[in-house]
Parts: sequence; structure tokens; C-alpha cells
Amino acid sequence: MRFSVNSEKPGVIKTGCVVLGVFEKRRLSEAASNFDQSSDGLLTDLMKLGDMDGKCGQTALVHFPRGAGCERVLLVGCGKQAEFNDKRYCEALVNAANALKGSGAKDATSYLADLELKGRDTYWKVRRLVESTLGVMYTTGELKSEKDKKSRHLRSMVVNTPAASEASATQDAIRDGMAINAGVELARTLGDLPPNICTPSYLAKQAEKLGKDHTRIKVTVLDESAMKKLGMGALLSVARGSKEPARLVSMEYCGGAKGTKPVVLIGKGVTFDSGGISIKPAQAMDEMKFDMCGAASVLGTLKACAELQLPLNVVGIIPTTENLPDGNASKPGDIVTSMSGQTIEVLNTDAEGRLILCDALSYCKKFDPEVVVDIATLTGACVIALGSHAAGLLGNDDELSRQLLAAGEYAGDRAWALPLWEDYQPQLDSNFADMANVGGREAGTITAACFLSRFAGDYRWAHLDIAGVAWKQGKEKGATGRPVPLLTQFLLDRCTRGN
Ligand code: BES
Ligand code: MN
Ligand code: ZN
Repeated sequence: MRFSVNSEKPGVIKTGCVVLGVFEKRRLSEAASNFDQSSDGLLTDLMKLGDMDGKCGQTALVHFPRGAGCERVLLVGCGKQAEFNDKRYCEALVNAANALKGSGAKDATSYLADLELKGRDTYWKVRRLVESTLGVMYTTGELKSEKDKKSRHLRSMVVNTPAASEASATQDAIRDGMAINAGVELARTLGDLPPNICTPSYLAKQAEKLGKDHTRIKVTVLDESAMKKLGMGALLSVARGSKEPARLVSMEYCGGAKGTKPVVLIGKGVTFDSGGISIKPAQAMDEMKFDMCGAASVLGTLKACAELQLPLNVVGIIPTTENLPDGNASKPGDIVTSMSGQTIEVLNTDAEGRLILCDALSYCKKFDPEVVVDIATLTGACVIALGSHAAGLLGNDDELSRQLLAAGEYAGDRAWALPLWEDYQPQLDSNFADMANVGGREAGTITAACFLSRFAGDYRWAHLDIAGVAWKQGKEKGATGRPVPLLTQFLLDRCTRGN
């Protein structure tokens, strides 16, 4: 889908659909009122009929509006003007996109980014508009035999900005929003794929494809024997029960000056998590195909980086494996030696994410990182603590944590900090090894991060637990592409700061 900028009046513009905001109670936005005048009070008449009060969630579509140059006009309820905020604005965008998707319009002109929104500029509003619209247009279901044959779908959108001076901010927002969406889409597509297709080798192939598409990305893939030579006993212990071989993928994006230390992103890539010998209940076990969404978000973020040609060096690392039970699988009580030399008593084979991440955290030192962020669907406890609204954030550097929280806030992809106090560390004590891989029922998200912190000793590090935000359940079941927007924003922010 294409986006472009314009600053024509809504009544004269030739387009498949004009999209306008309406507030409660029957208060036309500036653009809507402009349209109303040029169409001889059509919108006022419509509101009198009771079809549109301006309530959140309401939409009304009118065909061949009198006196106007467009084929349709779509009114979108925005709630009370005094209460209009980021959340309402984004809801209006999503409702508008859904209504457009259900219509026959092939092109549209949106005036929603014209709406006054406290504390937000044109760039922010347009970026939300682009990302929200494209997010709604995403379709999964390549694997349904009955393909979606709908040839009439939205192909282009004109974003209206009333002031010509805002045109360049609008252009920038379109460029950034589209690149972020390309990353989100890649992450969603990979997350939605079934685990018999999206295997560790498949993820490695996707990385190699990214390397082919973008000259600035160099990809290396380690197989199990290479990992064995490096002493990755923790990662390899998880792969023991699977027929699919594990992989360790590195993607080096070089956009910055040579010798500038890279930002390292590490994504958990468990392509199916049955729990292993500590097997999970059957209920919703299929959802454990999403246990590679950390890896998918790293792939997506690197794609966005490359499309934006960010002047930074970024390394993406993906430890990837299945976690399955069989005669060769790890058993509760097994003790394994990690690449760092620390020994781990595997008390629960379902706490496998930290086992693959800890070796990746040791491995990444070879890239001499500026900062390291790992992203993982790590604990069910995080879903209990924060639900599906915020990712859990823990780490060893307050400034890095603050930057990630701010990036998430700005990008509409929030995280929330949990404490990584030393007080929690003793929960990992083991009588037989340097540590256990689980810390009991209490504070499960924090003890998982405590475990990782023992391998992230020599650099600034943060951990994002995305178990709650990476996918949706129920009717809308599917991957969300989060936290690609947060991560890409974090990188964008580093460019403007100049490091
Ligand atoms: N992939 C799961 C975490 C998870 C669970 C994500 C449910 C989303 C929904 C992870 O590998 C896991 O199984 N974690 C265990 C850890 C426990 C054994 C300490 C968990 O959260 O139950
Ligand atoms: Mn598990
Ligand atoms: Zn897992």
C-alpha cells in the first residue's frame, strides 16, 4: 500500500473515500465541517438522522455524497473532544481502517491526522496513522485453500495536512511508519506460521534472505557442531529432544562508522515449546508456536533498520531450537555447563528460554556491544503481572532501561519496569550446581531475569519479557509484531542523539 501527502479541501478532492472525524455530541471536526459546507449540510443531516453521534467505535459510510468530488465519505466517531487522547486517536484510526477494509474503496484520503491532539505533532500523528492502517490491512492465512480473492482492496491513501509547512514531517512519518510496518509484518508472518514450517532452519533461511535483500546485512549461521566447539552446553541441552537441528544466527547490520560499537539484539527462537520432559498441559499448547516471537522481532527490527538505512551498527542474534521430549531429551536434574563455564541444574525443562539465551549472552561479547537487549516470550508469570498491554522490562543499567521505556511510550508499544534486586537472586540457589534454572513460583519473571543477569556481566543489558504482548488469543489469534515498534524507535532515538 502507498501513502502520499496532500493539502486539498475535503469537499473537492477526487478519491474513493474521504475519512473525517466527528466528536460527541454531533460535533464536526474542522475538516468535517468544511466538507459539510461544500455538500450542502449533508453531514448535519446525517447526524440528525441519528446515524452518527461521534461516539468512539461508531463509523458511518455514505456513498456519492452530494456536491463532493469523492465516491464515499466515512465518518469516524472520536468521543468527547475534551477527552480526546492518544488511545482514542489510535482507536479511531483502527476503526476507520476496518471500515475501509470492508468497503470497496481502492484509495482514500484521510483527514484524521489533522485532528488536534494534545502533546503530539504531525510526525507522530501521521506515523500512527500509517502504522495503524497497515496493521489492520495485514492478512495471514496463506495456508487456507480458499484464498482471499478480493481484488478490490485499499491500495493507496492520501494523508491530508492542512499546512504546507507540515508536508516534510508528514513525508518523514510515512517513510518511518512504512519501514516499521515492514518489520512488524515480517515478525507477524513468521509468528503466525505453523511450527512444522517455521523450524530453526527456516528462521535461519529467513535471516539469510534478509542478508541477500540488504547489502548492509551480513548473516552467519552456526550449526550444532560449531556450537559444541564453543561450549554452548545450555543451548544444546534444550535441542537434545528434537529431530530438528538447532541454529545460532547472527545478522550484522553495518550502517554506522566502522569501529562504532553495535547495539546487540538477542531474540528467543524456540519454534515450538512443548515444555520437554516437564511437558505442558494440552490446553492451548499450539500457542507455543509463538515462542519464537523474540527472534521474529529481531528479524523485523533489522529489516526496518535496513529499510531506513539507519546510521548505526546493529547485530541481531537468534538462538533457535525446538523444545520437545524424547528418549534423548534433557531430564529434570540434569546439570549442564554453559558457554560461560557456569553450571546449571535443569530442574524444569520448560524453563528452556533462559538456557538458550544465556549462551547467546556469552556469545555476543565477540561483537564488543555498546548495549545488549534480549527479547523473549520468557515467562507465563509476566502475562499474569502485566497482561497483554506492556512487556516486562528488567536490566542492569537505569539509563538504558529509561531509553527503552521512552521508546515504547512514543511508539505505542509500551514496556513496564520490574525490579531486578539482588534480593531475588537466592531463589536460584542449587545444592548441586552454580545455579538452578528455576526460582520457584514467586516473582517468576524477575527470577528468570536474575538468571540471565548472571551471563550479562560485562556490558549494559536489558531484557524484555514479551510473553504477554507478542500474540493475541481468541478470535483475533495471531502474532502482533511487538516489540518491533519499540525496538526500532529505540534505534531511531540513538541516531538523533548521535551515538
Ligand atoms: N515459553 C514459555 C513462557 C510462556 C508461557 C509464554 C505461557 C507465554 C505463555 C516458557 O518457556 C516457559 O515455559 N516458562 C515457564 C517457566 C517456569 C517453568 C519457571 C513458565 O512460565 O511457566
Ligand atoms: Mn518453556
Ligand atoms: Zn518457552
